[in-house]
Amino acid sequence: MVKKAVLPVAGFGSRMLPASKSIPKEMLPVVDRPVVEYVVKEAVRAGISEIILVSHCSKTAIEDYFDTHYELEHQLEMKGKDSLLADMRSILPAGVSVISVRQHQALGLGHAVACAAAVVGNEPFAVLLPDVLVDCEGVGEDLAAMVRRYETTGAAQIMVEPVPAERVDQYGIVALEGETPVPGASTRMVAIVEKPDIHEAPSQLSVVGRYVLPGEVMSMLAVTPPGAGGEVQLTDAIASLLRHAPVEAYAMQGRTFDCGNKLGYLEAVFHYAARHPEMGEKVRAMMKTWVN
Ligand code: G1P
Repeated sequence: MVKKAVLPVAGFGSRMLPASKSIPKEMLPVVDRPVVEYVVKEAVRAGISEIILVSHCSKTAIEDYFDTHYELEHQLEMKGKDSLLADMRSILPAGVSVISVRQHQALGLGHAVACAAAVVGNEPFAVLLPDVLVDCEGVGEDLAAMVRRYETTGAAQIMVEPVPAERVDQYGIVALEGETPVPGASTRMVAIVEKPDIHEAPSQLSVVGRYVLPGEVMSMLAVTPPGAGGEVQLTDAIASLLRHAPVEAYAMQGRTFDCGNKLGYLEAVFHYAARHPEMGEKVRAMMKTWVN
């Protein structure tokens, strides 16, 4: 059973400066809640009950957000603000815990994930990059489907989506044994390479930022040398894994928003605002007045 998820949140978020100077970029709001809450809720919907934050001393606001704020709750209770109180209490659903470990040096995504090795142990785990929001409204939940597939086949699952040729050098890129699977399905992966040059890219299928991996990836990360950009890459450890264990590419059904850059973040804000249960109608009417 996949019960643990690693969220690497130690990065400084330089693409979101100055907003991210003294607030973790994961705490920037998308409508009325921080980016990281969407990601944690996505993990919980996939059956995850242990969230492992790989964090930095400047980013304790993230841990605080998932902690109980008794004074605030008491005040809301006294004032009879029951729905707000219920919302506060459901930030972290019952039965879900948050553990935080530190990444002392910025040595890459692979290094960040390896910082959680002692907490993950030999168990399978998910990795969710918190810059990326995945909206599965109207389709099946992608991460939950990946977890189910892992649990029935034992094959690691890497979520992928096509990217334009000129952007393959910004992502992990995969090669498949057969055709690209239909959205919601998985296919055996034969290669994965981090940020390849356009002329060397094995395809235009990019790694999106959702992974379901066996615990043994941790021992591979421990011996993975720095790769692209001089950083220890999770992609390189997955490349080692697929030499002796099944690894599959899962074709996503939902829609992604890259909240790690300003335009992607704004797109997410507009998207989630337009379909917010209380504000959506007004937001859509407001948007219409902007068109001219
Ligand atoms: C990381 C991964 C890359 C993946 C990307 C998705 O890169 O290393 O394989 O495609 O996230 O967002 P980063 O964006 O941290 O450079």
